[in-house]
Amino acid sequence: MTTVAIIGLGTMGAGMAATIARAGMTVRAHDIKPEAIEKARDSLPIITRILDELDMPNKGDGTAVAFADTVEETVAGADMVIENVPERLDLKLELFRQLDRLVSSDCVLASDTSGIPITKLQQAVSAPERVIGMHWSNPPHLIPMIEVIAGAHTSAETRDWLVKFIEGLSLRPVVVKQDVPGFVENRILYAIMREAVDLVERGVIEPEGLDTCVSWGIGYKLAIIGPMALLDMAGLDIYQSVGSYLNADLCTRDDVAGYVTDRTAEGKLGVKSGAGIFQYTPEEIERLRAERARRFVAVRRALEREP
Ligand SMILES: NC(=O)c1ccc[n+]([C@@H]2O[C@H](COP(=O)([O-])OP(=O)(O)OC[C@H]3O[C@@H](n4cnc5c(N)ncnc54)[C@H](O)[C@@H]3O)[C@@H](O)[C@H]2O)c1
Repeated sequence: MTTVAIIGLGTMGAGMAATIARAGMTVRAHDIKPEAIEKARDSLPIITRILDELDMPNKGDGTAVAFADTVEETVAGADMVIENVPERLDLKLELFRQLDRLVSSDCVLASDTSGIPITKLQQAVSAPERVIGMHWSNPPHLIPMIEVIAGAHTSAETRDWLVKFIEGLSLRPVVVKQDVPGFVENRILYAIMREAVDLVERGVIEPEGLDTCVSWGIGYKLAIIGPMALLDMAGLDIYQSVGSYLNADLCTRDDVAGYVTDRTAEGKLGVKSGAGIFQYTPEEIERLRAERARRFVAVRRALEREP
């Protein structure tokens, strides 16, 4: 049986742990903060209910996540360790150095980094061919796509092993062939975000209108027809003629817009601080969380159903 260790139980850890345990693997998880472990433990029943609603195959008992107090105990005998600590190169390098001393020579070391090049993380270990990017999307128990990113020194065996592992979770691996910053999902997302913020900042549209436009227009469409297939559907000649004048008008700024930095400076960070672009009461946050989870489940079930 495959044993997986997860280090870091913040936003992402519990959903990943529950998804992997459900596929019949042995999962051990750890966080340096005891309260993060408690929060992850408490969230498992809710996550398991969502996995039930998604009809995810249940090869474990759905809650078989063991929590450990130390990294040593967590990674002992692991076939794979998933590094899931905050998005800071120094923290990740320190953990990888520690893991290098603790795991066996054939243990895969995966990172859930959102965009730090995997090649940088490989500097910290003695067997860089076992280091690979495994970029989940948030919420990890709901979004079925996981990017697999090989660094400059990752072996083809490690990549193929991880692809099979993800398929074994009944999820969808996507191999990213070059170790570019942000990989693919976040490059696309940040291109959308840059244009969206720019349009709102310039007063072209209100934030609510922008969200309606994207969610019920291209968002809905893209879940069924990806951008490459959409080019074929619309016609490459149409893209060429629109792109020939529109590309030059799109936002290309390389800093972050004041629309975002001003709010951040005021402590308006979004849902976590009760205000960001929109305002949130605690009740509203709870309602949104439940409603979004229900909708994710319904849409994924509809998309996975054979037409
Ligand atoms: N949040 C997202 O939407 C999202 C999506 C995809 C990938 N990621 C990536 O996943 C990783 C984790 O992100 P997150 O949002 O869950 O972060 P987070 O800040 O919510 O949680 C990180 C956790 O790691 C713990 N931690 C820090 N150092 C540790 C150590 N040495 N050992 C054990 N635990 C330690 C912290 O206590 C914290 O609970 C990041 O690399 C991030 O870029 C995040």
